[in-house]
Amino acid sequence: MNLKQAKELVHGRLSDKRYEHTLNVKKMAVKLAKIYGEDEERAALAALLHDSAKEISKDEMREILRAYPQYAEGGEERPAPVWHGVCAAILARTQWGVTDEAVLSAIACHTAGKPGMTRLDKILYLADMTSAERDWPGVEKLRKLEKKNLDAAMLAALKQTNDFVLSQGKPLDPMSKAAYEDILARSGKNER
Ligand SMILES: [Fe+2]
Ligand SMILES: [Fe+2]
Repeated sequence: MNLKQAKELVHGRLSDKRYEHTLNVKKMAVKLAKIYGEDEERAALAALLHDSAKEISKDEMREILRAYPQYAEGGEERPAPVWHGVCAAILARTQWGVTDEAVLSAIACHTAGKPGMTRLDKILYLADMTSAERDWPGVEKLRKLEKKNLDAAMLAALKQTNDFVLSQGKPLDPMSKAAYEDILARSGKNER
């Protein structure tokens, strides 16, 4: 699937608002890819498809996870908000002909992160949090940091997301916790 096809596909699957978000994530992902020497086309494709399963029903997502347990990454045991990334990666792989494992990985982990995230995984995760229309408190700070230091930005981003989830009284996805601990351990120290 090329970028034009991906764009058309998600335009048909998403509301105007989410389509606009998607295009903004693509812009930010390409910008970060340029800074960090990542393949821009891969970043663009992952960004275009990242929320492609966000507007299907929970039942439909559950069906996709059950149909492809080998790609479900913990599946429906995990909190429902993370399902759409995993489902998007499954659809991309099984229905839309996306074969690039790096792209599929970035799509699948864009909501929760995971231990051992690749540079592309991190770029998409951060682009999704800092796309042009995002206006949560602290987003400007993260936009500055992500352009200077990808890992420091990931650490801040995962902490922000995990703290937010916990503050809402919602269950934290074990993968998010593990992603944070992994980056913390790799960055070596004292940010806890
Ligand atoms: Fe998402
Ligand atoms: Fe998104």
